Amino acid sequence: MRVLLTGANGFIGSHILDRLVESGSDVAILLRRTGDTRFIEAHLPRVDVRYGSLDSTESLREAFRDAEVIIHCAGKTKAVRKKEYYAVNAEGARRVVEACNALSDSVAQLILISSLAVSGPGSVESPAREDAPPRPVSTYGKSKMLGEQYVRRQSRVPYTILRPSAVYGPRDRDFYLAFRMARRKLLPLIGGGRQALSLIYAADVAEGVLRSIGNSASHGKTYHLAHPVPWTQRALLAKMAEAMGTRPLRFAVPAAVLYPACLLRDLWSRVTGRPSILTLEKVPEYRAPGWVCATDRAAEDLGFVAGTSLDEGIKLTLKWYTEQRWL
Ligand SMILES: NC(=O)c1ccc[n+]([C@@H]2O[C@H](COP(=O)([O-])OP(=O)(O)OC[C@H]3O[C@@H](n4cnc5c(N)ncnc54)[C@H](OP(=O)(O)O)[C@@H]3O)[C@@H](O)[C@H]2O)c1
Repeated sequence: MRVLLTGANGFIGSHILDRLVESGSDVAILLRRTGDTRFIEAHLPRVDVRYGSLDSTESLREAFRDAEVIIHCAGKTKAVRKKEYYAVNAEGARRVVEACNALSDSVAQLILISSLAVSGPGSVESPAREDAPPRPVSTYGKSKMLGEQYVRRQSRVPYTILRPSAVYGPRDRDFYLAFRMARRKLLPLIGGGRQALSLIYAADVAEGVLRSIGNSASHGKTYHLAHPVPWTQRALLAKMAEAMGTRPLRFAVPAAVLYPACLLRDLWSRVTGRPSILTLEKVPEYRAPGWVCATDRAAEDLGFVAGTSLDEGIKLTLKWYTEQRWL
């Protein structure tokens, strides 16, 4: 079965590619000519590279030729301007659907990598559920929601929507910032660190994606992908520090500090053109009471339960950062 993966050179896409190659699948990937391929260099001789962009339906149609399964992982998680989220996550998904529809004789399944940001916040007592109306609180979440809507309303190809929770692991640059703070013996706690989080190790996301391929029970459905055990932000950061053998100074970041800090960072992003996760746009996500989601549906339909514990995931991630001299 020929699988085409978009976003293959990014953080999550590179883990999906690792797993596809390991499973012996016949793989093609969509890359932009400007894409940084350092994480997937070893696979390039073995996969069929097709150049194109989410900005052009024509290039997608050309790239998707002869593929039976399209895994659409490309997306924008950080942006300098709001319209960039919509251009990539919403309009990009719309073009992917158009290309799949044009090739509906050969494409048997479209798998969309969406996000828990679409479901919206959830707590340990009341976790977010896939069937509840979406309640995104950020522009990122709203743009991913629109991408899902295009798939649900317009796809003539059977589809599966996967919503990973916050993803960490080797090659990630977002949780990396927390590791770096812990190395510097500083642990900032937003809202006292009480926010409860569903998390998932990147290789487990890839496993969830593999379980969806060719699984007709998943057609037309949406699944959270997350480890079943949530952690508070405080416990997560403490585990990172423990794994690094540091005893950092914990300090609370009140909203009165968070807003101006994000505003300043946004101004700097506009000057440099480099987006950051520290942005006003994401403050509602940081201030939500929790990001906990139910995971039972993926267990029932896909037979998928994320298997990497937080301790193990942190250990493996730290090992990678150390080997790559990121830390
Ligand atoms: N990271 C998380 O915690 C998380 C959680 C839930 C869901 N997700 C979703 O997972 C997906 C991957 O996220 P990530 O964290 O791996 O992001 P990432 O590392 O920034 O990778 C993004 C990928 O999308 C590609 N891309 C962006 N714009 C494109 C365009 N116009 N045309 C073609 N390709 C384009 C990038 O290619 P270039 O290298 O050429 O820019 C890159 O391969 C996204 O859909 C995101 O919404 C992420």
